[in-house]
Amino acid sequence: MNSSVNAPATSRVLTGITTSGTPHLGNYAGAIRPAIQSSIEPGVDAFFFLADFHALIKCADPARVAQSRMEIAATWIAAGLDTDRVTFYRQSDVPEIPELCWMLTCVTAKGLMNRAHAYKASVDANGLKGVDPDDGITMGLFSYPVLMAADILMFNAHRVPVGRDQIQHLEMARDIAQRFNHLYGRGKDLFILPEVQIDEDVATLPGLDGRKMSKSYNNTIPLFEGGAKALKAAVAQIVTDSRLPGEPKDAEGSPLYTLYRAFSSHPQAADFRAALEGGLAWGDAKQALCEQIEAQIGPMRAQYADLMAHPERIEDVLQTGASKARRVALPLMDRLREAVGLRQPAVAPSAKKASGAGKADKARLASFRDENGFFRQRLFAADGVELLLSEPFEDPKLLNQLGRQLAQADLSVMPIDAQGLVSLESDGRCWARCPAAQLEQIRQALAQL
Ligand code: TRP
Repeated sequence: MNSSVNAPATSRVLTGITTSGTPHLGNYAGAIRPAIQSSIEPGVDAFFFLADFHALIKCADPARVAQSRMEIAATWIAAGLDTDRVTFYRQSDVPEIPELCWMLTCVTAKGLMNRAHAYKASVDANGLKGVDPDDGITMGLFSYPVLMAADILMFNAHRVPVGRDQIQHLEMARDIAQRFNHLYGRGKDLFILPEVQIDEDVATLPGLDGRKMSKSYNNTIPLFEGGAKALKAAVAQIVTDSRLPGEPKDAEGSPLYTLYRAFSSHPQAADFRAALEGGLAWGDAKQALCEQIEAQIGPMRAQYADLMAHPERIEDVLQTGASKARRVALPLMDRLREAVGLRQPAVAPSAKKASGAGKADKARLASFRDENGFFRQRLFAADGVELLLSEPFEDPKLLNQLGRQLAQADLSVMPIDAQGLVSLESDGRCWARCPAAQLEQIRQALAQL
């Protein structure tokens, strides 16, 4: 496949789940299942993560946060997420996210945060209680949208599938990105403006009482926890009316039917509806619903239990995901540091001494280990000006070899990446990225090595 210049358009989709609860049926049908389905569409580059820094805003119970991280990770994997294909990671394993969060905090207007619905709702509630408007409101809650913007912008996501309650946060992320681009982009955007994605046809499941299934209403049906028994016990509690067996039921008005529909094909749902309207007893309907849900999630439950019994397997998947995520985050973080004036020193002071204080008369490549333990190279022009910083590599030999190969390569055929940068690559491996305008200087420097 020739990937030069007209690189295939991939769309980066990113979403996170706050790790403060145990996944229920509503989380599965409304978020996890559709996310997994969209991640296998062609042209989709999916980033899914556990928002565990966000969990600290809502939940000060360390055991709950720790347990929830495991349960949610195990749920995604057991539900069939292809962790080789997508990038699946934990927010707190990517230190560039809080670093970016601070950079964004410094350009975010306080007035913008004052308008956030969640914060305003807390202030209003305090007003009704007659206490100080900011009573019990932490800086975490106040700055919640900035951390969320960092989650999204760190990976330059194009689309962010979320529930309606998150639309304002996406608007804020765009605002913040725009402001940062304007202040620091010098005519070239550092951040892509993310689009919110609201899936209209995704199921919003009713809970036991018929209201939206939600932890805060205490009306949830567990997904895996407690096994088939807990599922059955919960389904038994779903509210029904007092119509007797044989009496026609109002299928449309019953949460049983809505739940059934979310776990069945159209013909199955139509049969169930007809049965209810034909007088199916509520007890039999509940039995049928249990079987229908069980047919889909039963097979996943064994893997869930297996993962929960082997936390090291979950950890393995998450660590691999974190390295994958950081491979994307680090090069952008370098550019951001540079843009705001926090560029890392080009060479370590001791290395500088060794190479002599004077100007080099020839371009050169300097290899070093970055603060994250990855190997990198910097290319300096003959006048000592730094021309580029390579991508981070785990293997120093591969890094050296790519640098050498690129010195011989024809740079004019290199592909352009999603951010509009030229990707200097050999054998499909990217050595470094640079703006097209710098290519000629880089070509000259490489020729002198
Ligand atoms: N705030 C989101 C929620 O409560 C979770 C979240 C955190 C998120 N960071 C994100 C969602 C980034 C999408 C993108 O649902």
